Amino acid sequence: MLQAADAGEIMAEKMKSGKEPQKVQSPVEIRGFRMFSGLISRAEQEEMVAAVRDVVAAAPLVQPVTPGGRHMSVRMTAAGRLGWVTDRRGYRYEPLHPSGRPWPAIPAQVMAVWQAVTGIDREPDCCLVNFYAEGARMGLHQDKDEGDFSFPVVSISLGDEALFRMGGQDRAEGTQSLWLRSGDVVVMGGAARLAWHGIDRVRHGSSTLLSQGGRINLTLRVVAGA
Ligand code: SIN
Ligand code: FE2
Repeated sequence: MLQAADAGEIMAEKMKSGKEPQKVQSPVEIRGFRMFSGLISRAEQEEMVAAVRDVVAAAPLVQPVTPGGRHMSVRMTAAGRLGWVTDRRGYRYEPLHPSGRPWPAIPAQVMAVWQAVTGIDREPDCCLVNFYAEGARMGLHQDKDEGDFSFPVVSISLGDEALFRMGGQDRAEGTQSLWLRSGDVVVMGGAARLAWHGIDRVRHGSSTLLSQGGRINLTLRVVAGA
């Protein structure tokens, strides 16, 4: 696993060639969640949003339904070899968007963040795209549909600020919350890989990144055998 300084150097390297320099802070670790505040510059965030718009054009957002029949408030799509989906048949990874087309490739800028914060050569199989319009939230859950929990999940926040709740591997454990801002990256590995987490609320309009407001969260996952 790379140290924060290494991640900073890699991001700084990536930001050369005319782009603004990247100021990287050390990650703060809370219960195994490693928080890289402000890792992604505004210019990079804008490029990433443009890349996500291309993903959404090829694989439109859907409003997912849980196996229990509840409509989730976030809308989702994915990029990569596999996309995480949910419907009445269950939670799972699928090689095709519900339209029947393959998921688009994971944008290069997003792959670069995975590399910078994990240093892992294995590329993620899935970049799940969550879009939070006004009022959307995500209940406490564990990410456990992957085949191998030795790889971390990397989460990128773009747009409006979100209150992120972090617990332990046991749902009964207490939780701590903090606001995730545009450009923040969270690495959920080790003790935090199977920790409960969720988004209690989003401050609509708190960021100027998306012209209509809202929040995009990207999570990168290695699905392994699936
Ligand atoms: C998730 O856990 O899938 C999303 C977390 C976030 O939106 O920050
Ligand atoms: Fe999650």
